[in-house]
Amino acid sequence: MTKAEQLNSVAVLVPGHFNDHAVERIDRTFRRVKIERADPALVTDEMRRDVRAIASFAGVNAALMDALPKLELIASFGVGYDSVDAVHAAKKNIMVTNTPDVLTEEVADTTIGLLLNTVRELYTAEKWLRDGSWVKKGNYPLSRLTLRGRHVGIFGMGRIGLAIARRLEAFGLPVAYHNRRKVEGLTYQYHSTLKGLAEAVDTLISVVPGGASTEKAVNAEILAALGANGVFVNIGRGSTVDEPALAAALANGVIAAAGLDVFADEPNVPNALLEAPNTSLLPHVGSASHHTRRAMADLCVDNLVSWFSERRPLTPVPETVNVKAAG
Ligand code: NAP
Ligand code: 8YV
Repeated sequence: MTKAEQLNSVAVLVPGHFNDHAVERIDRTFRRVKIERADPALVTDEMRRDVRAIASFAGVNAALMDALPKLELIASFGVGYDSVDAVHAAKKNIMVTNTPDVLTEEVADTTIGLLLNTVRELYTAEKWLRDGSWVKKGNYPLSRLTLRGRHVGIFGMGRIGLAIARRLEAFGLPVAYHNRRKVEGLTYQYHSTLKGLAEAVDTLISVVPGGASTEKAVNAEILAALGANGVFVNIGRGSTVDEPALAAALANGVIAAAGLDVFADEPNVPNALLEAPNTSLLPHVGSASHHTRRAMADLCVDNLVSWFSERRPLTPVPETVNVKAAG
C-alpha cells in the first residue's frame, strides 16, 4: 500500500457541522465518517471498529473516547480545548491537538474592536444614523465613556493576551496582568491575584481558558474591585464569569459597561445581558474570518496528517505531550 492509500484508509470521525475547508481536506486525504453530534449513544459497531481520530469543533467527553477503542487522536478545532477531556485522553494514551498561534492576531483585533464598541457605543451610534435619528433628532449623544486615561488589566497574559497588550500600548494605555505565574522578561505590571489586578485597573480584559481553575473567576467581588468606572471585556470563555453577578453589577452601577464575545451557555445569552443598555454583545466571533478559520482548519488537518504519516503531532496540548503513537 502507498502512503496515500494508507492515509485514505484511516477513519476520521467528524461530528455535526464542521469547517468546509477542513472537510474538503479530510475527504481528500482520509476516510471521513459522519456522526450527527459528539454523542457516544450514536456510535455504531462500525465506528467502534474503525475510528482512529476525531476532528471536531465540539467537545469530546470521556464517554465518547471510551466508546471508540481504536481512537488515537482528537484534532480539536480552536485553541481553547476546555470541552475536550484532555486528562482522560492522556490516561488512555490518546493525543489531543489544538490550533494555537494562527488565530492570535485576529482574536486580538476583535478584542480591540469589542472594547472600543463598548466604550464609544459605535453600534448604537451607527443605528442612530441608519434609523434616521441623525436627521430627525440631531447629533448622537456624547458617549459616557472613553478609552482615554484608562488603565487596562489583562486576565490571561498568554499568546492572545500579549497581542492585545501590544495593541493597547500603541493606544497609549498602561497595561497590567494576572496569570498564575509571572511571565519572565515582560515589563507590564504583574499582580499575583485577580482581585489585586481588578483593584489596580479600571478596564479588565479576560482571555483565560475555560476549565475548573477559572470557573466563575470573574464574580461579584472582582467586579466590585473594578469599580463604578469599570469596563469588563470577555473574549476568553463564558464559563470564567458569574453571569448573574455581572448582570447585577451592570444594572446597579457597580461597573459601567461590558463587552462580551463568549457566554456560559452558547448560543443562549441571558436576557439580563441582552436587555442591559451598557453591554456590547458578539456571537463568539473572535477568530471568525474566512482567512483565520482557514488557517485553523489547515492546522487541525495538518495535525491529522502528521500523526498518521510521521506518527507525531504538530501542536499537542500540554496534558498529552507525553502520549506516544503506537507502532
Ligand atoms: P495561552 O497562550 O495558553 O494563554 C492562556 C493564559 O491564561 C496563560 O498566560 C495562563 O498563564 C493564563 N491562565 C490559565 N489559567 C489561569 C488561571 N487559573 N488563573 C490565571 N491565569 C490563568 O492561550 P491563548 O492562545 O492566549 O488563548 C486563550 C484563550 O482564549 C483560549 O483558551 C480560549 O478559551 C480563548 N479564545 C477565545 C476565542 C474567541 O473566539 N472568543 C478565540 C481564541 C481563543 P498561567 O498558566 O501562568 O496561569
Ligand atoms: C473558535 C475559539 O470560535 O479557538 C478558540 O478557542 O473559541 C474560537 O477560535 C472555536 O474554537 C471554533 O469552534
